[in-house]
Amino acid sequence: MRHLLDTHTLVREDALRILDVAEDMRDTQSREVKKLPTLRGKTVVNLFFEDSTRTRISFEAAAKRLSADVINFSAKGSSVSKGESLQDTAQTLQAMGADAVVIRHGASGAPHTLATSGWISAGVLNAGDGTHEHPTQALLDAFTIRKRFYGDHSRGRDLAGLKVTIVGDVLHSRVARSNVWLLTTLGAEVTLVAPPTLVPQDVTGWPVTIRYDLDEAIAAEPDALMMLRIQLERMNAAYFPTEREYSRRWGLDAARLQALPTTSIVMHPGPMNRGLEISADAADSPRSTVLEQVANGVSVRMAALYLLLAGERDTTNAEEDA
Ligand code: CP
Repeated sequence: MRHLLDTHTLVREDALRILDVAEDMRDTQSREVKKLPTLRGKTVVNLFFEDSTRTRISFEAAAKRLSADVINFSAKGSSVSKGESLQDTAQTLQAMGADAVVIRHGASGAPHTLATSGWISAGVLNAGDGTHEHPTQALLDAFTIRKRFYGDHSRGRDLAGLKVTIVGDVLHSRVARSNVWLLTTLGAEVTLVAPPTLVPQDVTGWPVTIRYDLDEAIAAEPDALMMLRIQLERMNAAYFPTEREYSRRWGLDAARLQALPTTSIVMHPGPMNRGLEISADAADSPRSTVLEQVANGVSVRMAALYLLLAGERDTTNAEEDA
């Protein structure tokens, strides 16, 4: 792997390889000494032009657990406010020795630009670009589903036969897009549920079923129900149902949780808006994987950094290194 930019172009074998290496990484995280020497001498730059809690800290934890040096850049308080371009910002950080750049940016395509422009030689990992993709979120979601359903027998398995229903603001969701491509590549059956105003126009070309009614979708007995955040910051209030209507028709509350099969899991990428798309009963239920997703995110990002930065070595040694 040279870069990790999207899941749309990620083939099944590479996706499974990342998930399997993440299994090895996860095993190391229950040891007394969690740190591995694998990326000693490498430098990972977290280049964040949009706010983040989980993704930035998770990449930082992952890089540090692999003994890489980490430089954190946040556009807030930087020379971006003086008009410095993405090219100059990235080249400045590259001059400080970046081997990998983890980038979150409000513009869809910014990570691809960084990876293909020739501005920098570092590997690029997309940590969320506009409404386009968030590949490591989808990988950690797939990892979490696989772990919940197959436990210790997860390695090498895809998600064939599992039904995943993604609910909410699909229009603005890079998490939904990355999950649609990755989960279907891994064989899952994916259904999207959203208000008609929050469905992307190009959805007819996606390998999914579209529904508008959450209760009907729950009656179809999904194995995983993934609730999305309503991205009020990216939308024009004119095309959004009122928050009260949204919560009533598309929110996961105690009654809908009760209607789900007892074996189904409830997922949310975070940050959650409790009381809008998900109630506290659902978010804190034993069937909720919210915190598992966060914990698994570190293992998946360790795997991605390992496969990018230790690439010149024989990556079949991941388990030994771990
Ligand atoms: N899921 C996710 O991307 O969360 P953050 O915005 O906190 O990174």
